[in-house]
Amino acid sequence: MNIINLPSFLQLGQHAGKILRLSTRAISVKVQTDSSTKVKPKTGILMLNMGGPTNVLQVHGYLLRIMTDRDMIQLPVQSQLGPWIAKRRTPEVQKKYAEIGGGSPILEWTNKQGELLSKQLDKVSPETAPHKYYVAFRYADPLTEDTLNEIEEDGVERTVIFSQYPQYSCATSGSSFNAIYKYYKDRELPKDMKWSIIDRWSTHPLYVKTIAERIKDELAHFPNDKRDDVIILFSAHSLPLKAVNRGDSYPSEVGATVQLVMQELNYCNPYSLVWQSKVGPLPWLAPFTDDALKGYVKQGKKNFILVPVAFVNEHIETLHEMDIEYCQELAEEIGVEKIRRAAAPNDHPLFIDALTDIVVNHLRSNQPINPKFLTRCPHCANKNCGQSKSWFAQICKS
Ligand code: FES
Repeated sequence: MNIINLPSFLQLGQHAGKILRLSTRAISVKVQTDSSTKVKPKTGILMLNMGGPTNVLQVHGYLLRIMTDRDMIQLPVQSQLGPWIAKRRTPEVQKKYAEIGGGSPILEWTNKQGELLSKQLDKVSPETAPHKYYVAFRYADPLTEDTLNEIEEDGVERTVIFSQYPQYSCATSGSSFNAIYKYYKDRELPKDMKWSIIDRWSTHPLYVKTIAERIKDELAHFPNDKRDDVIILFSAHSLPLKAVNRGDSYPSEVGATVQLVMQELNYCNPYSLVWQSKVGPLPWLAPFTDDALKGYVKQGKKNFILVPVAFVNEHIETLHEMDIEYCQELAEEIGVEKIRRAAAPNDHPLFIDALTDIVVNHLRSNQPINPKFLTRCPHCANKNCGQSKSWFAQICKS
């Protein structure tokens, strides 16, 4: 993979001293959307993610969309059970959002990333400029359907669908792609628009370096005599074992990221990959983050860094689950000596370079769609996946 040369952005020193503390991670990012852009964009970058409620009033709608999305979660009598669970869980989830400042910062971070990405793309790829980013969330505003409408109105010549999930899962990335297919299933595609897809990028060297830098930032907070013993716990959102056994590639892609990050760090510390955010009674991929912490403390380990390895922005799972539930409440309960949480990539200059490099390489390649994307999981039983992949194969042509 070629890495574009952006020396001014690659100076790590620029980021020194910008270590975010647990209590300040829900920072407010000054966002300047480019909705006022007068020039017609030539290339649109459609940034897919799950999104999050920006205030507590949006929590119910957000949960309702998740619970009724069969690509994300399969429940018996889902059309009734899904809304019932969403309603029942709303107050508890609202409370969590209230505790992190009233809403998810994922839109602010995505806007910030998109803005920086578009600016860099205009500089390093003038032949495809002007670039404009668009945010397409699956479960919160701006919803994918509304954003697709906006792209059409703007008359974009080429749209790059850029998943913001570095590791591909059918439950998350797959659901977002299926949503695009469903939107156009009964509509005409915008005339003369070219489409292509970036569906995964778990091993991109600059993404890997970003996570390694975030870890180094946190290691520096441990005293010299303790630093080598700190256990680095890479924590990713778990997945039901049913999905893993269907052949979902997410666990192996997360593992690939972890191995490369540790290689980048010269395997400086002990580490482990653990999984968080399990819901419901069915078996999910383990060991779970909280159980792993308890297990290590029992073994006499006392110092830890939690690393959000599959999230590119701060959101409820970093700000509440990791920072409050694990780093504060659990750590105190089980007698952890010191625990810190590495920041998500957010707007780290290396991460913006990673995003830029991924898009530029994609724009310059002759591969509008990844063959891996076109192949279903070996035990996929979801009709949407087959139909959606055939549709994408048709619309993404070089
Ligand atoms: Fe993976 Fe359908 S569940 S392709």
